[in-house]
Amino acid sequence: MPATILDGNKIASEIRAEAAAAVKAMSAAGLPPGLAVILAGHNPASEVYVRGKVKACEETGIYSEKHTPSTDITTDELLALVTELNRRDEIDGILVQLPLPPQVDSKKVLLAVDPAKDVDGFHPMNVGFLSTQRPGLVPCTPAGIIEMLERSGIKIAGKDAVVIGRSDIVGKPIAMLLLNANATVTVCHSKTRDLAGVCRRADILVAAIGRAGMVTRDFVRAGATVIDVGMNRVSEAAEFKRLFADNPKREETFRLRGAVLVGDVHPEVAEVAGAITPVPGGVGPLTIAMLMSNTIKAAKMRRGGIGSGLARPA
Ligand code: GUN
Repeated sequence: MPATILDGNKIASEIRAEAAAAVKAMSAAGLPPGLAVILAGHNPASEVYVRGKVKACEETGIYSEKHTPSTDITTDELLALVTELNRRDEIDGILVQLPLPPQVDSKKVLLAVDPAKDVDGFHPMNVGFLSTQRPGLVPCTPAGIIEMLERSGIKIAGKDAVVIGRSDIVGKPIAMLLLNANATVTVCHSKTRDLAGVCRRADILVAAIGRAGMVTRDFVRAGATVIDVGMNRVSEAAEFKRLFADNPKREETFRLRGAVLVGDVHPEVAEVAGAITPVPGGVGPLTIAMLMSNTIKAAKMRRGGIGSGLARPA
């Protein structure tokens, strides 16, 4: 039986509709939530992501502003911008798009973001809240994966979950969220022995590596849920053929555009998995939807609406 396709666009639009309703109520009561996005330099992928984030704010009713300092910005200049955004009351969320230009000390900049406005959940205080199961702001992509599992009726408690990749943005936080939801979690990386064998133990397999089609059929137990976080551009003909030997629709895209977007999971996995996220249209749309809901959460916490160590005293 072919895998159930977990439709990220559908789930994201549900979350965004809920977010729009919450924003409407908050706006009627006085202030809409506000998000500031910082995009330094001209990374083409970052420009696409940020455009999507700002557009989603417009559609949700969230006030947004985009700051675009030049590529040669210094760490101190960026720190000054963050400090100013921390100070402004109408800004509830601050997102510093990564990667930053190489001369900037990214860790220092992320540490300067007010944890109460840290809608990416990258500040060490929010990382600590997550690992100690306190309320806080959780990174958007991992939070979106949990939403997708829950809204698709896929149980987490008691399951064996395997995460491939240990990044601060996806691998580590999704492992922590799965652990908090009572899965038995294994985190794999480039030094893991018998990677395919470890992955075959998974009821829930999360691939967040950044290598096109690396997870092949032999990594996946029949019936497992496979979450593909990868977003890789494939432009080489031989690589394209390895991934899409017999797919006229993708061949057409490849011919027209000279490249296709491919996840970390090989398409053949859909023949063995029980459920799988497509690329594109799987995890990607959820990241932006969760940014909307994190911005609302930050606004409510800052205004004292829900309990948190991050809430401002009234
Ligand atoms: N770059 C790639 N993914 C992300 C993300 O989720 N947040 C930020 N700020 N930058 C990114």
